[in-house]
Amino acid sequence: MNPEAVKSSYARWAPIYDRTFGAATKAGRRAAVAHLNRRGGHVLEVGVGTGLALPLYDPTVRVTGIDYSAEMLAKAQDKVSELELSNVTLHRMDARSLDFPDASFDAVAAMHILSVVPEPERVMAEIARVLKPGGQVVVTNHFARERGVLAWLERVAAPLENLLGWHSDFDKARILGEPSLVVDEERELPPAGIMTFLALRKAA
Ligand SMILES: C[S@@+](CC[C@H](N)C(=O)[O-])C[C@H]1O[C@@H](n2cnc3c(N)ncnc32)[C@H](O)[C@@H]1O
Repeated sequence: MNPEAVKSSYARWAPIYDRTFGAATKAGRRAAVAHLNRRGGHVLEVGVGTGLALPLYDPTVRVTGIDYSAEMLAKAQDKVSELELSNVTLHRMDARSLDFPDASFDAVAAMHILSVVPEPERVMAEIARVLKPGGQVVVTNHFARERGVLAWLERVAAPLENLLGWHSDFDKARILGEPSLVVDEERELPPAGIMTFLALRKAA
């Protein structure tokens, strides 16, 4: 999606996100944050959206969240204020060009964002840059299937990306090309394995 389409699509999604797509993707956020809570430290959440994951972090984990959509970020800020999440800081930022020095974070979470951003390869390069050596990246996303009815549906829906707000037939290979990141774990998530959990590690 191009940046203008991301802005307009997520301005439409923001008021209803938590009750729709957000509710259907709960399992991914739970799995990702449980993984990150076991490790602790300073986590960067790219594409924090309405902040649905923020209350799940252990209060000892420091979280920096960034998002491109002002409307999604405003919803996240409401949660931070209402729930007094003093471990969380939010910024409006483009994940393709992160305004943080190299090796700033112990871990990075990218939940349901990589099939939304323009240039996911560039986002993965930025994630690797700001991650400390030995740090973890946790990804939850839907990836294109090769065969079956769902694969056909994904291809049919692909031209609707600007309306839907994501690429329905997103190829996993597009995020696995970053040379410093290796896959540690991969598993399908409920419901029905539509989403995938991936944990990657930056070489020490
Ligand atoms: C499907 S939502 C996922 C939100 C959240 N991670 C979750 O799991 O609920 C995708 C988010 O990616 C954000 N996004 C898209 N392109 C972006 C970019 N280039 N930089 C930062 N955020 C971006 C959108 O604004 C939106 O909030």
